[in-house]
Amino acid sequence: MGERTGSKKDIDGFRPPEDFSENAVVNDPDIYRRAEEDPEGFWEENANNIYWYKKWDKVLEWEPPHSKWFLGGKLNACYNCLDANLDTRADKAALIWESEDGDIRQYTYQELLDEVCKLANVLKDSGIRKGDIVTIYLPMIPEVIISMLACARIGAPHSVVFAAFSGDSLATRISNANSRLLITCDGYARRGKVVEQKNKVDDGISSIELLERVIVVKNSDNDISMKEGRDVWWHDVMNGSDIVCEPEIMDSEDMLFLMYTSGTTGKPKGIVHTTGGYMVATNTTSRFVFDLKEDDIYWCTADAGWITGHSYIVYGPLSNGATLLTYEGAPDYPEKDRYWDIIERHKVTILYTAPTAIRTFMKWGTSWLKMHDISSLRLMGSVGEPINPEAWKWYHENVGMGKCPIVDTWWQTETGMIMISPLPGVTTTKPGSATMPFPGIKAAVLDEKGNETAPGEDGFLAILEPWPSMVRTVFGNEERFIETYWSKWDNRTYFAGDGAKRDDDGYFWIIGRVDDVIKVAGHRIGSAEFESIMVSHPSVAEAGVVGKEDELRGEVIYCYVTLKTGAEESEELKKELRGYADKNIGPFARPKQIIFSDDLPKTRSGKIMRRVLKAIANNKDPGDVTTLQDPAVVDMLTERTRELE
Ligand code: PRX
Repeated sequence: MGERTGSKKDIDGFRPPEDFSENAVVNDPDIYRRAEEDPEGFWEENANNIYWYKKWDKVLEWEPPHSKWFLGGKLNACYNCLDANLDTRADKAALIWESEDGDIRQYTYQELLDEVCKLANVLKDSGIRKGDIVTIYLPMIPEVIISMLACARIGAPHSVVFAAFSGDSLATRISNANSRLLITCDGYARRGKVVEQKNKVDDGISSIELLERVIVVKNSDNDISMKEGRDVWWHDVMNGSDIVCEPEIMDSEDMLFLMYTSGTTGKPKGIVHTTGGYMVATNTTSRFVFDLKEDDIYWCTADAGWITGHSYIVYGPLSNGATLLTYEGAPDYPEKDRYWDIIERHKVTILYTAPTAIRTFMKWGTSWLKMHDISSLRLMGSVGEPINPEAWKWYHENVGMGKCPIVDTWWQTETGMIMISPLPGVTTTKPGSATMPFPGIKAAVLDEKGNETAPGEDGFLAILEPWPSMVRTVFGNEERFIETYWSKWDNRTYFAGDGAKRDDDGYFWIIGRVDDVIKVAGHRIGSAEFESIMVSHPSVAEAGVVGKEDELRGEVIYCYVTLKTGAEESEELKKELRGYADKNIGPFARPKQIIFSDDLPKTRSGKIMRRVLKAIANNKDPGDVTTLQDPAVVDMLTERTRELE
């Protein structure tokens, strides 16, 4: 059992079990003091775990809000994930993959390298050169990892688009990135049904001339059409491709990848991550936070289409020589014990998943767990949204059998690395708190004016000093970069977009987004982006989209809609509008409720007040509404919302 501590000076929480601490990668609390005194020295020391063709001349150049890390250093991210492991791990499993149907594929480090080199040569033969952005639109099959690493090998930044996004969302991202090459598949299974991925591609990109080559993985049996001269099968082009491909020597500040994410306004933005700092940051945090050891079987349930998959499936763990387990499928297929079954069969030792999954397992009940021996687990993580103490405790007691430390890790697409998290061999944890900033990270909770809040008081989460994997810019939109992250206080204090508070022990408690980003089951959805899609429907005049708190999914989407003259309110139309969101964004963004209304709460200048809508959706006091164009609208909407419950 993780001991409850009792003495006055101790924090009321769970101490790392002694036997865990004894053997942990980090067990000396002094690491915090050392890193705080000399953060650059801390990162420099850890940069030595990465293989560099040429070491850096300078650790950091900070010209707020721009940072460069490991200046002058030369390296290759793919080399670090694969080749660098060959001396001691050529025959070690790098990846164990299981499909929903139960197929299992395994790749040693040598085998993974061979596949990656073959694809890298295919990409080169297709005209892809250093700096060309390649878009990847694949489910969690091994080919997604192979594709990312092949891009990294030749210095072509990748842009992975989550497979469940719609064809239209894919097209927007391809256009923004100016991608000439796309890697996708014919289809994939979800709960026994086929998702027709290639057809989604064809629907979405019909208007894009940009794409010169589409490489299609054969992963399913569904019929697809192949466009002559553009589309080729993966197995055809890989057949006979050379297994030797020299890695491109990259500058520390060369772009490694683009990752699109939703923000407060407008279209999704391409977050730019570079090579050196990102590799050092993900390599170090993987080892320290997940306590990675040589014989671990590490399972991160995220998808490669999100930042968690980039940092903590691919780059961090592989650059540490870990054995990854990945699963392509639903957690309740064929039954609700699928995760526990996988853990038992593959003897998973580390599990990294999301609060929404934990709450779902909680709802399904412990009987599914009890059918399996999951005693191989020794550490568990959580990411993506705040974990409520009840879910934390359930996870600890039932999945972790009371003995596994839990690392609740706060971070973002933009931060690239875990920023606030326990170190499992050092930190006393408190259910619901992400605890302390990672060594070398300086975080704070600030008020509107930029002063630190008193313990217990709500404020905004801020990062005060640069870190190696920080977002470098928003692709093609430097203005948005500055405005979103560096304008709330001054141009050297990073605004995370989250509300937070600290307790008397200095622990951080993340409350959730304070901007118009909605987190549905951990997926990040922008209100403005969603609204602009809804108003593109021929029947919709205006839309106001907000998050409503939900026990299972964290938040769900409530979409308030006014209709154009002539359009009739009906159940059919509601259904159609839900389907429209599905088709244009993806099924994970399906609104829970569509609420028709004659008007929306607006300021006198006509701006929709999402704050008021959010209060109405969540049955909270909307505050002062006297400045609205028509305050009566609040009562009308409240009534309509309550009718639904
Ligand atoms: O609101 C925070 C929440 O997820 C946001 C970042 O989302 P995304 O860029 O999609 O990255 C998710 C995976 C890193 C944050 O602004 N968030 C993430 N982890 C936590 C969290 N909120 C509370 N606790 C966490 N551990």
